[in-house]
Amino acid sequence: MLPPGPQTGNEDLQSHQQIHKGIPMIVPTKSLFSHAYGKYAVGAYNINNAEQIMGLFRGNMDSKAPFIVQLSKGARSYTSKVLLEAMIRAAEEIFPDAIFAVHLDHGDEQTCYDCVESGFYSSVMIDASAEDFDENIAITKRVVDAAHAKGISVEAELGKLGGVEEHVSVDESDAKLTDPKQVQEFVERSGCDSLACAIGTSHGAYKFTGGQGLHFEVIEEIARRLPGFPMVMHGSSSVPQDEVERINAAGGKMKGAKGVDEAQITRASTMGVTKVNIDTDGRLVWCRVHRECFRDDPEVFDLRPAGKVFMAEYAKYIVHKSDVLGSAGQLDSLRASL
Ligand code: G3H
Ligand code: 13P
Ligand code: ZN
Repeated sequence: MLPPGPQTGNEDLQSHQQIHKGIPMIVPTKSLFSHAYGKYAVGAYNINNAEQIMGLFRGNMDSKAPFIVQLSKGARSYTSKVLLEAMIRAAEEIFPDAIFAVHLDHGDEQTCYDCVESGFYSSVMIDASAEDFDENIAITKRVVDAAHAKGISVEAELGKLGGVEEHVSVDESDAKLTDPKQVQEFVERSGCDSLACAIGTSHGAYKFTGGQGLHFEVIEEIARRLPGFPMVMHGSSSVPQDEVERINAAGGKMKGAKGVDEAQITRASTMGVTKVNIDTDGRLVWCRVHRECFRDDPEVFDLRPAGKVFMAEYAKYIVHKSDVLGSAGQLDSLRASL
């Protein structure tokens, strides 16, 4: 399939948006980034179902934080992209004060075009990081041309994170930090709007075997070479140890699970890391709640009691994370800037 033909503006995006207090609720991702850059990071949370959406919106409203709802290819096909996107539109009505962007996470080229054409997404990520430098640029540039024609921004990835991404499995030994010497050329030639950088993290619940952490020297050098340009940190779950312990105490087997130190996330959030991707932590909350609920009430077979606990607990997690990212309390100032 070819990229969609050029359009003149972001009419499609706007036609789907709800306006509240004179301001669209689904905003361009770049508006979030320009407000946040260097001061705080916007949390980008993966969602798959209604309960995650409710917890995510509730938590961000409770902490008055802007946020990014992100959908992976797997999430879009889990039930149906139509259902998932409709639930996000419904959340706009339920939470009229929310300000957020909708983002495709780890897209391949065709999925990016599908999202661009839908007019619903604020931004897409093209993940061609498994390709060599020139091919990564070529693929990213095609997506950028199609997306920019519709007023949609593009996140690209340079470097290789460890762990497993949906269509790319990256062995720990093959993980490669982003080379700061390549970033200017990559951004100039591809035209991307933000850059997912490999700075020491990996996807999933087993990020570190010892005391490793973020490579601040890489973050610093990229920020120096690309001043004001938003960096994205994938694999940012902190894998709270109390969650892991509770999961294991309720029958789970998560030996050695370890995530990113939250103090390091806070520090990176003021250094140009403007989008912080979190999926695994939400899954851990889900897993802990459901394991405990069914362990403690083995006669229960209803889905709603555990679902209610999950929504409340996930909202609590989000409130905490907004403090870590510095996004808590930013909503009014952001609204005034739009
Ligand atoms: O980085 C990948 C995200 O955690 C999405 O995971 O592809 O299983 O939805 P998923
Ligand atoms: P985690 O696995 O650390 O939550 O990372 C999620 C992510 O990077 C989504 O793109
Ligand atoms: Zn990711």
